[in-house]
Amino acid sequence: MISPIFTQIIKLSATTSIINSHIQEMEKLVSSWCKNKPLPESYIFPPETRPGNLVVPTCNTIPVIDLSKAEGQNRTHIVQQILKAGQDYGFFQVVNHGVPESLMNESMDVFKEFFEMPWEDKAMLYSEDPKNSCRLSTSSVNYAREKIHHWRDNLRHRCHPLQDCIKHWPQKPIRYREVVATYTIEAKKLGLRILELVSEGLGLESRFFGDKLSESEILSINHYPPCPDPSLTLGVAKHCDPNLLTLLHQGDVSGLQVFNNGEWIGVEPLHNAFVVNIGNQLQIISNNKLKSVEHRVVTNSRVARTSAGFFIGPSEDSIIEPEKSLVDDAPFYRAFEFKDFLLHYFPNLEDNEVVMGHFKSQA
Ligand code: OGA
Ligand code: NI
Repeated sequence: MISPIFTQIIKLSATTSIINSHIQEMEKLVSSWCKNKPLPESYIFPPETRPGNLVVPTCNTIPVIDLSKAEGQNRTHIVQQILKAGQDYGFFQVVNHGVPESLMNESMDVFKEFFEMPWEDKAMLYSEDPKNSCRLSTSSVNYAREKIHHWRDNLRHRCHPLQDCIKHWPQKPIRYREVVATYTIEAKKLGLRILELVSEGLGLESRFFGDKLSESEILSINHYPPCPDPSLTLGVAKHCDPNLLTLLHQGDVSGLQVFNNGEWIGVEPLHNAFVVNIGNQLQIISNNKLKSVEHRVVTNSRVARTSAGFFIGPSEDSIIEPEKSLVDDAPFYRAFEFKDFLLHYFPNLEDNEVVMGHFKSQA
């Protein structure tokens, strides 16, 4: 019989070797090696996609919508503003949105604290398996296959159903689970409120998106360390979000750019605002009445940037198709299962035309 002490030792050494393998993999995180190092070749984008030294004005053209006005006589006006922004930019910001400022600040603090923790506290979360419910990783989901890496580390986890997901979330910082649970509940409420306004604007019943189409909730926290040469690399390369609607808390550091009228425009960080963008599924269901628009993230050499995207999307078995009442002549897209969209999205995520082209109707 193996003595209990011996079993204990076997268990301990197994745990140690798991931790050791995580530590080796974790060395891929940008934040683990980037200090005082020049930009490695594997992070240098080709001239046609690198940001260069172009100064992109963080301009005020992305509409800022005051949601406190949505409950009164101005509701129709707010609905129109949202629809127009969704058509023209695929993006807008919301202020006076009901998520308490203290909760926004506390969540941002706890996200930053997570990335500032020593590696021992994060090692167990590092994973290269995208199926993990909660994982710390770097660059994009295509790390092993991509030619060029992205200058970002990322913590991503599911948030629904909360009781099941929360046990996989980080245990440190100690208040992470409590603060982030409250944050995701509030973000979901806000997302559903915005989707109700969108539904009204499209002439659909107000709960149209309220069930399976918005069942999935993913929180994705990005950490972009200061970069030695922001002109040559990107934090995230151009892409559209594959979900229904994204609510981004971008903190106080700029970096997000949106493609509009043939040029990149910066999204100004507004304290206590959410940046909202239309995902691919909302474009498809609305039969192109709303647009999911390409965006990217540039880095800077001065400060680290932390942002948190809250992705609301359909359950994987949802059938997605253009809503009949929104089809004038012919639908632009065919019906498909959402999980098939994701399978096609991830290998092609930097080319929205290829992604969407696959789901266009043949007619
Ligand atoms: C994303 C994204 C923007 C940002 O994670 O999909 O577009 O500002 N992030 O970090
Ligand atoms: Ni995005």
